[in-house]
Amino acid sequence: MCGVVGAIAARNIVPLLIDGLRRLEYRGYDSAGIAVLTEQGIERVRRVGRVAEMQAAAEAVELAAGLGIGHTRWATHGGVTEPNAHPHISRDQIAVVHNGIIENHEAQRERLLALGYEFTSQTDTEVIAHLIHYYYQSTADLFEATRLAVRELSGAYAICVMALDRPEELACARMGCPLLIGLGEGENFIASDVSAVLSATRRVMFLEEGDVARVSRQTVQVIDGQDQPCERPVLLSDVSLASLELGPYSHFMQKEIHEQPKALSDTLEQILEQGFTPDLFGEQAASRFNEVTGLLILACGTSYYAGLTAKYWIEGIAGLPCHVEIASEYRYRDAWADPNYLVVTLSQSGETLDTAEALKRAKELGHKTTLSICNVMGSAIPRASDLVFYTRAGAEIGVASTKAFTTQLLALFTLAVTLAKQRQRLDEATETSYLDALRHLPGSVQHALNLEPQITLWAEQFAKRHHALFLGRGVHYPIALEGALKLKEITYIHAEAYPAGELKHGPLALVDEDMPVVVIAPNDSLLEKVKSNMQEVRARGGELFVFADLDSHFHDSEGVHVIRTPRHVGVLSPVVHAIPVQLLAYHAALARGTDVDKPRNLAKSVTVE
Ligand code: G6P
Repeated sequence: MCGVVGAIAARNIVPLLIDGLRRLEYRGYDSAGIAVLTEQGIERVRRVGRVAEMQAAAEAVELAAGLGIGHTRWATHGGVTEPNAHPHISRDQIAVVHNGIIENHEAQRERLLALGYEFTSQTDTEVIAHLIHYYYQSTADLFEATRLAVRELSGAYAICVMALDRPEELACARMGCPLLIGLGEGENFIASDVSAVLSATRRVMFLEEGDVARVSRQTVQVIDGQDQPCERPVLLSDVSLASLELGPYSHFMQKEIHEQPKALSDTLEQILEQGFTPDLFGEQAASRFNEVTGLLILACGTSYYAGLTAKYWIEGIAGLPCHVEIASEYRYRDAWADPNYLVVTLSQSGETLDTAEALKRAKELGHKTTLSICNVMGSAIPRASDLVFYTRAGAEIGVASTKAFTTQLLALFTLAVTLAKQRQRLDEATETSYLDALRHLPGSVQHALNLEPQITLWAEQFAKRHHALFLGRGVHYPIALEGALKLKEITYIHAEAYPAGELKHGPLALVDEDMPVVVIAPNDSLLEKVKSNMQEVRARGGELFVFADLDSHFHDSEGVHVIRTPRHVGVLSPVVHAIPVQLLAYHAALARGTDVDKPRNLAKSVTVE
């Protein structure tokens, strides 16, 4: 999705803006641009395509300035063209970059056309530039003009604004899209994502809904949605620069798959230190959990599949009913609500719009307590929640989520066991065995990673296929779903997942010798059932690719290929079996030559509907 940057400094900020935009590339975009203030006026460079192309164009004209704004655009209103790329400029005086969607842009456009403004793009953003320009005429104050303009907008925005005759300040505002200010020494920055400011500063101030800010080199002044002056806390970001670099890897997805033992160990640290205590989820968790009669999990994409896995743990271990729903569906329906159901939102980024809106909806419907499991400190969803558990996966850059997924699973398992303990459903021996299982998890995941050479050979065969079917049962069914999603996302091979028992109710009709069927078949209580489902596939000529563990006692035979993890890890088996399906998708994508980290049409953080 789009990315916003802004900078004001005593030094040349052009390289800073470009570096910031490079670090936002992972979010997905199709054009990029910057506007800076020079002696010639507001100078702008925009290009369709990669930031590198825009950078080359900026360097060719030796662009240098102490103040400027920049943007990576993921097209929503209007095609992928240079005139639609940001920044948008009004009458050579006001330049704006914008994330989000302005819902009343058509009405504003009519009004501004009547006032004599000319439009040069098809974007909703251009109305913001003209509207700020309009108010700037009467106020001669960039901050005030921005405030007046945004109060007339409906929809979502994070904007950064500069003016021709204001070399000493920028203005910015947010509603429904994240925006933060990076605080340097005698220089300040604005960005939609902390990764864009990290090379300059770690001190960040997250703006809240409705905030408008004036940012100079030395000061930051903020007013809230009621136009009252306010102070926002300054946090020290824990995102490391190393997590934003590829290092020895070819792709971020590859790096992040291999980082999983560490991501899990880091997330485990606090759990192993404190045990299964509600404090892991926040100070008030103990009393809040006492009132919980069930759980409602809301999420999108891969996070949703983590939620589906958790349902088995929550109901099986904690003995509580658990509903899991796709956030974009939940937010628009008249859902039944029990105030004592704990609402758990799962989000790697903490800024997925549908999940944030679903959370809002759950509160409106009367749910008393909300818990966010999130990977990005201080992001919107945890800030809007009563309780928080931060996974410690480190920055996840690849669009296809990997280490965020397995650390979410870890957090959710911990939640299930913690609720079980609080409800006195956990004897000491079981608690110890769960702690042991957690302790061994990073090692088991490493074993699964060691299967990479065998999985690569399978992947080369998959790369030539047009379709694939994934099967699993019980707690491994969501892993089959996740495997199919990974394959779709980065190889563009059509893949579907089914609970293996459902095969004969439809999908079996798809099975023939051209349909590879991946089966997640560890040695759990459903193994015998899965085996008969596999027979159904073989009998129709389908080729089976089975991920099992040593205890499943599967062997290669005609039409049946088996890769085995060393041993069955019990209740945490879904976490371990997530690894081979990630590797399969990654290597199939390599064999097909697709853009692994930036798959077509997709974005990392989906901040629009
Ligand atoms: C996008 C990403 C997916 C991710 C989903 C939810 O679609 O491409 O990888 O699973 O958003 O994101 P979240 O940050 O809320 O987990």
